[in-house]
Amino acid sequence: MTKYFLLTLAAVAFIACGKKPAADAAATATAAADPGKTLYHEKTCATCHGEEGHGDGAVGAALNPKPRNFTDAKWAQGDDLKSVIKTIENGVPGTGMAPFKSAMTPDEIKTVAEYVRKLGGKK
Ligand code: HEC
Repeated sequence: MTKYFLLTLAAVAFIACGKKPAADAAATATAAADPGKTLYHEKTCATCHGEEGHGDGAVGAALNPKPRNFTDAKWAQGDDLKSVIKTIENGVPGTGMAPFKSAMTPDEIKTVAEYVRKLGGKK
């Protein structure tokens, strides 16, 4: 449901941008095409894991252990899609990584899991 709302919102924004330079409209179109990126920012992942997933977000700086840099070769909880989904659902006890199970739908969790794997270049 939320996803459709966001898509509609993006579509409206896209139309509203009609009078602006083409570059703006193109940027909006890109954001609309990547719901994972939208979720990554909306659900505060970026504040800890950083804009590009390098583990360098402002909130994350004070944490020990540090938020994962998604481009690290080795992820503590496993980097296959199934493991990443599980980590986002349940969090990582004893770290700043909270469980998002009650804050996101299963679809949203899968979408953002795919996005962070992409940020990390995981195939
Ligand atoms: C308050 C800061 C914070 C926020 C917000 C946060 N994380 Fe984390 N995240 C962490 C920390 C700290 C770890 C633990 C790193 C470790 O185990 O060394 C972690 C670990 C992870 C891991 C596991 C990486 C591994 O090594 O296996 C994934 C995947 C992840 N986060 C995804 C996300 C996603 C997606 C979001 C948003 C929905 C998010 N995180 C939000 C701090 C945060």
